[in-house]
Amino acid sequence: MRMYDLISKKRNGGALNKEEMTHLIEGYVKGEIPDYQMSAFLMAVYFQGMTKEETAIMTDLVARSGDVVDLSPIEGIKVDKHSTGGVGDKTTLIVAPLAAACGVKVAKMSGRGLGHTGGTVDKLESIPGMRVSIEREEFFEIVKKTGICVIGQSGNLTPADKKLYALRDVTATVESIPLIAVSIMGKKLAAGSDCILLDVKTGSGAFMNSVEDSLALAQEMVSIGESAGKKTVALITNMDIPLGNNIGNSLEVIEAVETLKNRGPEDLTNVCLELAANMLYLAGQGDMETCYGKVKKALESGAALQKFIEMVEAQGGDSSVIKDISKFEKASVVKEIISPYDGYITFMDTKECGIASCILGAGRETKEDSIDYSAGIVLKKKTGDRIEKGDVLAVMYGNKEEKMLPAEEQFLKALKVEGNKPETQKLIYARVTGDAVEWK
Ligand code: URA
Repeated sequence: MRMYDLISKKRNGGALNKEEMTHLIEGYVKGEIPDYQMSAFLMAVYFQGMTKEETAIMTDLVARSGDVVDLSPIEGIKVDKHSTGGVGDKTTLIVAPLAAACGVKVAKMSGRGLGHTGGTVDKLESIPGMRVSIEREEFFEIVKKTGICVIGQSGNLTPADKKLYALRDVTATVESIPLIAVSIMGKKLAAGSDCILLDVKTGSGAFMNSVEDSLALAQEMVSIGESAGKKTVALITNMDIPLGNNIGNSLEVIEAVETLKNRGPEDLTNVCLELAANMLYLAGQGDMETCYGKVKKALESGAALQKFIEMVEAQGGDSSVIKDISKFEKASVVKEIISPYDGYITFMDTKECGIASCILGAGRETKEDSIDYSAGIVLKKKTGDRIEKGDVLAVMYGNKEEKMLPAEEQFLKALKVEGNKPETQKLIYARVTGDAVEWK
């Protein structure tokens, strides 16, 4: 079999069979297929797409390209949660303890941020002492004991995705529905949970900018999960506006803690309650109304906050910073962004807001870059808000004075200010299950 023929078949709109796909993925992982040929294949997929069957075969090959975690030694129903990525998306820090406080087992492997989106593992690492690299046995013990553990992708999990994602990232082939579905679901199937909740972000800060594309991605992933025998639900949620007010690692942990103390921003709290209720639903804890009632109670009673503290302590983190958020390390440079405009904010290009935070040091451009955990932006005004000249729009945090002006310019570029108040945006657009799409 020649790689050249597989590339031209895909370029011409053909579909690869199982044998061909196996040759492609296994050959690439072994280093027998060079990056330049795989790049050409990925670009052909970007333009031609893949059939449902090709996507399912490729996902299975990616999932089995390394270790597949067997979570069966942990009793109870294990539910995974995955977000397709966004700006200010600290939902895992809130949703996982909410679900665990209600008895769902959360044995989760999360990712790091790349590009304009943040990653849960980086956020967790902003808690002093927090370990996110934990051996399998201890990981299991922590989940057995506390019901929750969130770590980085460990061991030899989906090496095919690691190589493919790194290549896609530098060849402009990330934004492909079948390739995103393969990448996410390959990891989810390898991670071994019984059920999967997907948070598919849509809008200017997400990989998918339109609800239509997000729905297609959600349906593709739900179908892959269900075919693999895992109960799977996807929510399509708004990423046309940063979620909550804080962007940046420790700033997001602080906001997550405030939310777990039931005094977080309304948008973040509502999305998290809905996501957590769906995790309970997947775990078979009743209908959606019952599940929502349970997670709301876990939030209001402080049980979810307690669960988060337990998790932090079990993973070696200093929980005193959670109990007293003023103990988080502070940025040495703090600067307000003052409004040069009068009017209503009608749009915030969320990706640009994420990039502004990265300029301050909150994200990395390449995998090797280090992160400034205290850097980021706290929004004081968001889409729909009335602003006057001189109002504080946001506060920037960082440790490099010279980054403040470029970040401010980047942030102001992200805003559209007009004379009329825009319509209120939906927070959740739809819920996608194996057999239905419920529009919200
Ligand atoms: N997140 C992933 O894990 N993979 C993608 O391809 C896109 C987002």
